Amino acid sequence: MKQIAWKTLPARIYRDGDLYDTERRQIFARSWLLVAHASQLQETGEYLAVTAAGYPLIVVRGENHAIRAFHNVCRHRAGPLANDGRGKCEGNFVCMYHGWRYSFDGRLIGARDFGAAEGFDPREYALLSLRCETWRGFVFINLDRDAVPLSKLIAPLDARAKHIPLEDFRFAKTTSHDLLCNWKTYAENFLEAYHIPQIHPFLNSAIDSTKFEIDVSPPCVFYLAPRRDDSPVSGLWAWMWPCLSVNVYADGVLMERIWPLSATATRLDYLYLFPEGVEPAVVERTIKASETTTFEDKAICEAVQRNLDAGVFETGCLSPKHEQGVAWFQSEVKRAINLV
Ligand code: FES
Ligand SMILES: [Fe+2]
Repeated sequence: MKQIAWKTLPARIYRDGDLYDTERRQIFARSWLLVAHASQLQETGEYLAVTAAGYPLIVVRGENHAIRAFHNVCRHRAGPLANDGRGKCEGNFVCMYHGWRYSFDGRLIGARDFGAAEGFDPREYALLSLRCETWRGFVFINLDRDAVPLSKLIAPLDARAKHIPLEDFRFAKTTSHDLLCNWKTYAENFLEAYHIPQIHPFLNSAIDSTKFEIDVSPPCVFYLAPRRDDSPVSGLWAWMWPCLSVNVYADGVLMERIWPLSATATRLDYLYLFPEGVEPAVVERTIKASETTTFEDKAICEAVQRNLDAGVFETGCLSPKHEQGVAWFQSEVKRAINLV
């Protein structure tokens, strides 16, 4: 019996600014988002500030070696504690605007020269904290206090990644790629291997793309294909809702987050990790393979976005053989934004 060819989401979903605001609140503010590798925050006071779907956030290694996360927003008049990037604070955070001081557990410990003020209680002005959990060295945050714990949600990925000695891997490099497309255009591209023979000649030669297996295990999707001898890829790719992909290489791993900058711009942030002592040539070969694939995906996603923006294409269809990962993703988007 033939399976149904699902309809795709309408094209307007990929360019609408109002809808993007809804996605920020309904998807990104309610999901576990990868923000760092714990080795980027080794000493007390080391922090990493990032903007996730328009939410400025900061994670810090504080007392007792605990990693905590906050909105990067001072409670006085919304100044930032730090610019985006990595750094180290001595002793406490100091707001960049008027110099209020916060401890690394978020307490307001000094409102610089504020003066005597009736009814001002510093205890009411602690930083706004976020849920923060670590999975095998990767630090995730969630803006939603009521979110299901990451440790539970990540179970399908945890099971698939059991054989990878992630704890022995060392953080090697970060890179970023800016794409002129909606985040879903890129996400859906990652969620199918149908395009590989057309778009990725090198990747296609590194695996047997006729034998792709797809496993949709919400909130994760996995792709498996037999790798050819001496290929830099391992033949395993994973995805976790809404914007994390895990590219497992023969000699390392690339954690990739797909963050929207606006309705029509997306940033890919890559974290590469390799086992300690791996040959530099191996690192170079892996990163080259990854970048080749990224540049090919960037070109096709930006071309698709231009066509979605042109206002001619309304809706398409999805292959039950190859695109069940995309179908699942689209159903999650529809549910999250209450699209009928
Ligand atoms: S906004 Fe932070 S001290 Fe004024
Ligand atoms: Fe691709």
